[in-house]
Amino acid sequence: MSIPILDTFGRTHTYLRISLTDKCNLRCSYCMPQEDMQFMPHRHLMQAEEIAYLAGVFVEMGVDKIRLTGGEPLVRQDFGTIIDSLGELPATLTLTTNAIQIDRYLSAIQAAGISSLNVSLDTLDAHKFKTITRRDQLQKTLDHIDLLLAEGLTVKINMVVMKGVNDDEVNEFVGLTLQNPRMQVRFIEFMPFNGNQWDMSKIVSYDSLLETISQRYSFSRLPGELQDTAHLFQVKGGAGSFGIIGTVTHPFCSGCNRIRLTADGKLKNCLFDTTEVDLLGPLRAGADVKPLIYAHFRKKHFAHGGHGQFTAENAKDAYETNRTMIAIGG
Ligand code: GTP
Ligand code: 5AD
Ligand code: SF4
Repeated sequence: MSIPILDTFGRTHTYLRISLTDKCNLRCSYCMPQEDMQFMPHRHLMQAEEIAYLAGVFVEMGVDKIRLTGGEPLVRQDFGTIIDSLGELPATLTLTTNAIQIDRYLSAIQAAGISSLNVSLDTLDAHKFKTITRRDQLQKTLDHIDLLLAEGLTVKINMVVMKGVNDDEVNEFVGLTLQNPRMQVRFIEFMPFNGNQWDMSKIVSYDSLLETISQRYSFSRLPGELQDTAHLFQVKGGAGSFGIIGTVTHPFCSGCNRIRLTADGKLKNCLFDTTEVDLLGPLRAGADVKPLIYAHFRKKHFAHGGHGQFTAENAKDAYETNRTMIAIGG
């Protein structure tokens, strides 16, 4: 094994997130602001063998967990081929998806050793689903969550909570965790990305989420790891759990172990750092990419790409200069 990927704050980076595509079969405005997005040209995307090669390099450098994201990872035609090869690596493989096409890939997912999936779902109301995602797919999403649970997989639902949009549904989502020990719901503070109309006033904060939930339920905190995005809780007598991802008001950067590879093969040392290092070009030119990776992580800032904790003022920078979430990869 090579030397681990360290930054100057002593953090070791063992969790690789690979975006497979910037395409999606939904159009959530906080993630993909425009209906007609200019997608990356095919030749700019990492091909299946390039993804497998780069993932292997990262595993040699100490990565032990790989998450596939997008866009929507399942819209890639060669998704099956990609997970076949990544499933061979000695790393935990998982994915973040909207679940709409999950029935097509269920056996391939299970064969690749994936036992837990993160599913994005922001509302249980069909009308709101259509407003948020600009598509009419709520029932399919719900059916596929049931299918995953019935097949014995663990499901973590990601709900981005937006004031005045879906914050009235928080306790209904907590209710989803009561029966099944493999069901987790995570409430996410809305984050700033290019074009997504982010505003501090649209966030439903970690503290106010807990306040809302405590009005309906008694719950207790569950133990977790420093690098976890979510603080986890369990309703008294409930089987599953819920979590709060407080990126804005409760950042978790001190334990950050994340590495990002965009669908066009650019390395990001932080979700909010706009400096990207191309790995795909050098790979295609036959170069060793490891020195590029080490060097980029030595430049990693402590929090939020150098912005520190977000305020209404400094988040503007992340808002204006970063890519859209869909082009970074969730
Ligand atoms: P697991 O802990 O394995 O479930 O992964 P995760 O929570 O990182 O994965 P997921 O793709 O489901 O992301 C859920 C939410 O976590 C996103 O909506 C973000 O709000 C947040 N998140 C994911 N990656 C990062 C990151 O690198 N930095 C920050 N600040 N937030 C992130
Ligand atoms: N703020 C918070 N979470 C977001 N996601 C996408 N855009 C944002 C945003 N602006 C979430 C998606 C997905 C996860 C990877 O990131 O809902 O579940
Ligand atoms: Fe890591 Fe950057 Fe996310 Fe903080 S904002 S947890 S430093 S990737």
